[in-house]
Amino acid sequence: MEYSLTFSLLLFSFCVLSLYIYATRLRRCKCKICSSFVSGEWRERFQNLPDWYTHLLNNSPTKTIHIHVLNNTITAHPGNVEHMLRTRFDNYPKGRPMSAILGDLLGRGIFIVDGDHWRFQRKLASLELGSVSIRAYAREVLDHEIRARLVPSLVISPTSSNLVDLQDVFRRFSFDNICRFSFGIDPSGLGLGVGLMEAFDEASRLSAQRALHTCSLVWRAKRLFNVGSERRLRAAIRKVDVVAENIITERRRKGEEGRGVNKSDLLSRFMGSVADDKYLRDIVVSFLLAGRDTVASGLTIFFYLLTKNPEAEARIIEESDRVLGQQAQFEPACIIPNLEQMRDMQYLQAAVHESLRLFPPIQLDSKWAKDDDVLPDGTRVKKGTRVSYHPYAMGRMEEIWGSDCLEFRPERWLDDNGLFRPENPYRYPAGVRVCLGKEIALLAMKTVALALIRRFEIRLADPEWTPWFIPGLTATLHGGLPVVVRDRCLRR
Ligand code: HEM
Repeated sequence: MEYSLTFSLLLFSFCVLSLYIYATRLRRCKCKICSSFVSGEWRERFQNLPDWYTHLLNNSPTKTIHIHVLNNTITAHPGNVEHMLRTRFDNYPKGRPMSAILGDLLGRGIFIVDGDHWRFQRKLASLELGSVSIRAYAREVLDHEIRARLVPSLVISPTSSNLVDLQDVFRRFSFDNICRFSFGIDPSGLGLGVGLMEAFDEASRLSAQRALHTCSLVWRAKRLFNVGSERRLRAAIRKVDVVAENIITERRRKGEEGRGVNKSDLLSRFMGSVADDKYLRDIVVSFLLAGRDTVASGLTIFFYLLTKNPEAEARIIEESDRVLGQQAQFEPACIIPNLEQMRDMQYLQAAVHESLRLFPPIQLDSKWAKDDDVLPDGTRVKKGTRVSYHPYAMGRMEEIWGSDCLEFRPERWLDDNGLFRPENPYRYPAGVRVCLGKEIALLAMKTVALALIRRFEIRLADPEWTPWFIPGLTATLHGGLPVVVRDRCLRR
C-alpha cells in the first residue's frame, strides 16, 4: 500500500515536471516551424515528416533549418555535410544523447558509440567487410537465399495472380541473408517466428520515436515507471535479446562441433576478441539492423519506382539479356550473375543509385556538437546541439540535382559512353558514405532486383498508392507495399 502511494506520488511529480519543462520550451520558442511541429499542423499539407523537412530546407536560403523545440539543426547543404562528416568529424560524435535514445536497443553497438568502442568495432568489421573474398561469399549466400527461398516464396500457382506485401517479403529475405552472411547461421533453424520479427520492428520504431519528444523527461519518466510505449519497448527489446542470444549460442555450438561453415564470418571475428556476451549481443543487434532494414527498405522502394517507370524496367531487362543471354530470362531456376557480369550492368547500377537518391533508407542522420562551431554556410552551432544531415531532402534539391530532381532518371548517373559516374559523397550521402556494408548492400540489391525483374512482372495492387513512412530509424512503409506478382515463366 505504502509502496503504491510512493509510486503514484513519484509518477505524479514526474508528470508535472515533464509538463512544466515541455511548457517552458514551448514558451521559449514560438517560431512558425516549432509551432507547426508541436501542433502537428504540418500534417495538413504533408503526408510524411521528411517531405515537410524537405519543403522547409528547400525554402531556406542556407539549406539549413532549426527545430528549436528538438534542439535540432537540420541541414541539406553539402558543404555542411562534409564539415560534419570529415573536416570537423571530431566535433560531431554520436554523443551521449544518442546513446540515451537508442542505448536500450543497441547497447554499445557500432551505430551509437564513439571513441575506443567505435574504433574497435569499426576495425574488425572493416577487416571482414573489406576482405577480397567477401563479395564472392556474399554472392554465394545470395544465390542460395534467392533460389531456395525468395523466388519460391513468390511462385504460387499457374492460374492465380499473387497479391503480396513486397516490403514484408524483402524484410524476411534480408533477415535470412544477413544472418547467414554476418553470423554464418541459418535463422530458420532457430525458431525465430513472425512475433520476433515484429518485436524487432517495434523496438526500432519506439526507440526512434524517443527522439521526437520535445522533452526527453517524458519518455524517461515512462521508462522509469515502465508504462505506455516504454513498457512495449522493454517487452520488444526482451524479445530482440532472445534473438541475439539464440544467434550467439547457435554460432558457438556450430563452432564447437566444427561445423562452422565459414569461420571468418563477422560474428566469429568478434567472438575471437570479445568475451562479454552482452557486448556480443549489442554487436549482433547492430548488424541485424544495419543489414536487414536498410537493404529491405532500398529494395522495396526500388520496386515501387520501377512500377512507376516501366521504361526503366525494360532497359534493365534489355541490358541483362545482353550480358546474361536471353535464354536465361525464362529459366525457372533463375540465373545469378557472376561479379564480372554484374560489373557490366551499368544501367542497373545507375537505377539503384537513382532510387537511393530519391528514397534513401536512412532519411536523417544525427550527431551532437561537442563544442561551439560555425558551419560553412554561416550557421552557428552551440555545444550540445543535435546537428543532422538529411539525405532524403538532399536528393530533392534543385541546386544539387537540377530542375528534374524529382524525376526518376537513372541516365543522370551515366556518362556519354553509358558508364556509371559516381557522385560526390557529400552531395549524395544516400546512406552509404561511411557505411561499411555499402558494396555488399549494392550487390544484394542488384542481384535480387535482377532475379525478380527477369522472372516476375510486379505491379502495384493500387495504382494510386503513394509512399507513407512510419517515423523510425530506417524508411519503413505504413501497411507495406502491396503488389500483384505474375510469373513470366507461366505466361510463355
Ligand atoms: C542500402 C543499404 C544500406 C544503407 C542505406 C546504409 C546506410 C548507412 C549509414 C547512413 C550509415 C552511417 C550511420 C551513421 O553515421 O550514423 C551506415 C553505417 C554503417 N553500415 Fe550501412 N547501410 C546499408 C547497408 C549495410 C549493410 C548490408 C551492412 C553490413 C553488412 C552495413 C554496415 C554498416 C556499418 C557497420 C556501419 C557503421 C559505420 C560506423 O559507424 O563506423 N550497412 N550505413
